[in-house]
Amino acid sequence: MESSKMLAVQIDSPGPISALRVRSIVAPIPGTDEVAIDLIASSLNPADIKIRTGAVVPATGNYPYTLGYDLVGTVVATGLDIADLDLGDRVLAMSAVALTGRGAWAERVCLPRAAVARLSDDLEASMLARLPLIGLTAYQAVRRADPAADESVLVAGAAGSVGRLVVQLLLHRGARVHALVRTPDQVGLLPEDALLTHHVGQAPTGIADVVIDAAGGDFATALVEKGRYVGLVPDQLPSRDALAARGVRRDVVITQESGADLANLVDLVRRGVLTLPRSRCFPLNEIHAAHKEYEQDGQRNVVLTSPRR
Ligand SMILES: NC(=O)c1ccc[n+]([C@@H]2O[C@H](COP(=O)([O-])OP(=O)(O)OC[C@H]3O[C@@H](n4cnc5c(N)ncnc54)[C@H](OP(=O)(O)O)[C@@H]3O)[C@@H](O)[C@H]2O)c1
Repeated sequence: MESSKMLAVQIDSPGPISALRVRSIVAPIPGTDEVAIDLIASSLNPADIKIRTGAVVPATGNYPYTLGYDLVGTVVATGLDIADLDLGDRVLAMSAVALTGRGAWAERVCLPRAAVARLSDDLEASMLARLPLIGLTAYQAVRRADPAADESVLVAGAAGSVGRLVVQLLLHRGARVHALVRTPDQVGLLPEDALLTHHVGQAPTGIADVVIDAAGGDFATALVEKGRYVGLVPDQLPSRDALAARGVRRDVVITQESGADLANLVDLVRRGVLTLPRSRCFPLNEIHAAHKEYEQDGQRNVVLTSPRR
């Protein structure tokens, strides 16, 4: 990379895949508590598509807008306040781009130290590039739900990227898990142990103390009286009032940047508690092909890699 210029994937306004632009722009310089990270790999998530199409309007940042949440990369510079990362360290991070405007689909990204986890060399970058957003979302949702040992949890969207990790985290805690998928064939995507599976055609009623909704809908009929509803899709939730009328508490999780949570997630991956799927890889500058693949691949596992490797 020419020191002051880098490639980034931007949109000038929301639109279809053709709205994505690969541009050479000025590379950022880290602030005192920030780390400058050169991209090894990133990935595609539904939130990227929602920002691209305008379904989600970012809270911060101006157009042209650089997209992207996930990041595996190499530390190339650190701010004055940072003493515990070295140049060349491999790191992992989730950039909450809709809240901060710091898109990760760029050759260099500057992020706060607190958002970044150090990564050893033994784990494959293209696999871990799927972890940050879906992993943090699942981890923070399970922490928010915090089911007691004798409680059962229904996970809606259990065959999806976030849902599968929620299921794995709950099983690891020893919770009783009901996995709700859309179609019967998606049951095959779930782990077999200790799992009660359902599809929407035969969705159960009154069986769960907690619903974790990673699908976006209204799955509250699965709850017992005075249950808890943890929603992950803020624009597709049952209303707070309707739930309150049944004594159900509603929580909405907005995923937060956290290097500490990511370090725990990487440890769970290393120990085999969490498994991540294989992805198809595209160089960052082939972003249009990557988005077309994402739309066609039912499992939506698409990774972006540095165009210079
Ligand atoms: N709150 C936050 O900060 C935050 C953070 C990350 C993600 N999210 C959101 O969380 C959602 C899940 O993300 P993801 O990456 O896991 O997406 P994903 O991989 O597309 O998974 C969504 C899953 O939900 C399933 N589904 C959709 N409607 C359903 C229904 N009525 N009943 C049962 N299953 C249903 C989908 O099935 P099909 O494949 O058949 O459609 C898919 O398996 C997305 O909407 C994403 O934007 C929110």
